[in-house]
Amino acid sequence: MLDLATNKVHDENRQGEAYAPFELDPNSYKKRFYIESYGCAMNFADSEVVASILNKEGFGATRNVEEADLIFLNTCSIREKAELTVRKRLTEFKKLKRARPGTLVGVLGCMAERLKSKFLEEEKLVDIVVGPDAYRTLPGLVEEAETGQKAINVLLSREETYADISPVRLNSNGISAFVSIMRGCNNMCSFCVVPFTRGRERSREAASIINECKDLFEQGYREVTLLGQNVDSYYYTSANGNEQSTAVTFAMLLESIAQISPLLRIRFSTSHPKDITDEVLHTMAKYDNICKYIHLPVQSGSTRILQMMNRTYTREWYMAKVDRIKQIMPDCSISADIITGFCTEDEQDHQDTISIMKYAQYDYSYMFFYSERPGTLAQRRYADDVPEEVKKRRLAEVIETQNRLSLESNKRDIGKVFQVLIESESKKSDQQWMGRSSQYKVFVFPKGNYDLAPGSYVNVRATDCTQGTLFGEIVD
Ligand code: 5AD
Ligand code: SF4
Repeated sequence: MLDLATNKVHDENRQGEAYAPFELDPNSYKKRFYIESYGCAMNFADSEVVASILNKEGFGATRNVEEADLIFLNTCSIREKAELTVRKRLTEFKKLKRARPGTLVGVLGCMAERLKSKFLEEEKLVDIVVGPDAYRTLPGLVEEAETGQKAINVLLSREETYADISPVRLNSNGISAFVSIMRGCNNMCSFCVVPFTRGRERSREAASIINECKDLFEQGYREVTLLGQNVDSYYYTSANGNEQSTAVTFAMLLESIAQISPLLRIRFSTSHPKDITDEVLHTMAKYDNICKYIHLPVQSGSTRILQMMNRTYTREWYMAKVDRIKQIMPDCSISADIITGFCTEDEQDHQDTISIMKYAQYDYSYMFFYSERPGTLAQRRYADDVPEEVKKRRLAEVIETQNRLSLESNKRDIGKVFQVLIESESKKSDQQWMGRSSQYKVFVFPKGNYDLAPGSYVNVRATDCTQGTLFGEIVD
């Protein structure tokens, strides 16, 4: 895993962050809930929807698990390791429950969907189990659980997008926020559990997305990250009064949000290489405030493996997509997700992955070794036949390649000036700011005698770097 400690967008290793949006007035809520989130950005955004639903019912969030009446874990199933971490955490909560009878524990999200009543029946670790499309029913389920019944709802929906729910911004820096634009996934990548845990793809009503972004901007936010498992297949149609339907594509949505204000930056994640269109690339190029950064998971550089993964593109096709991005936006950074040791992967396939990384010159990557997931196409069709030590050795080589590419990419930036959005003080010194360029690179630089604050834009010349950070100075 690339060391991007501050990465917020797709760090699949983010684990167990506890959230509370504000200091609690102990008398103003009937119950307090504590929520810990695991997995992808989508899951973290869902926790904000859950917090909103619970708030409306008179429940207040707390960061202190010890004082919570309700404890929720929003879980991830993407790799076995993610599930093991959650299980360990649940046994800790079981102890806490013993000390504080009446405390309820709930499992939310992808693991709830995957394991369903197993948690309640066999393992007796939890009181409430709620899948990603059933959060509206959470207050009722809490009531059921309070009477001693086991409460479960793991129904998946073809319509639910939580469009009308204003998420409570948890643990936010007040500058950047996630905005869900779609849910579910219709791609059937053979390694992936997501289509089973998050159901069919559906797009959220465009107007509600645009309004949420406008509200965020008015509240002082300066960056929105549009989230979906496959944002490029965003497509919203609605029938208006004349029975005519209006369709909104992802490019149209991007354009509408870009027009809210030039001071509002827009990011999005995740793109599937097969779906990102020239129209989207041209829209990105047209607006300075649409960030020049594309997360374009490759997964493997071998056409044979890509085919087994059901990715629907070849090595050459992916390389041509990278060329196209660089042609339309020469300053666009690109990152990838990469899996090592997928079924039947041999050394040549592995070398193909290393060489495609070098070809694409990824600025970052999120790298994993293959973890077989029950119920997926790969688990049913193929033997998980690459030994663990080989998977891990290849992963180490991929990480080393990426480390070098990241350093080279940062070195190429030295001497250039970038517009940086300040996010916070730097962790190491209160005399320095930390922010990001449009390309999503982390900048650290002295505050100097300027009247700036988180949320300000500033031009910074890069003067030095490590693999993960650019250091610089403010230029007038
Ligand atoms: N094993 C390892 N990595 C996986 N990913 C998805 N499923 C698996 C799996 N079974 C990775 C992919 C995906 C990212 C979110 O997680 O690279 O893009
Ligand atoms: Fe997100 Fe996938 Fe993990 Fe579900 S399984 S939380 S969709 S990464």
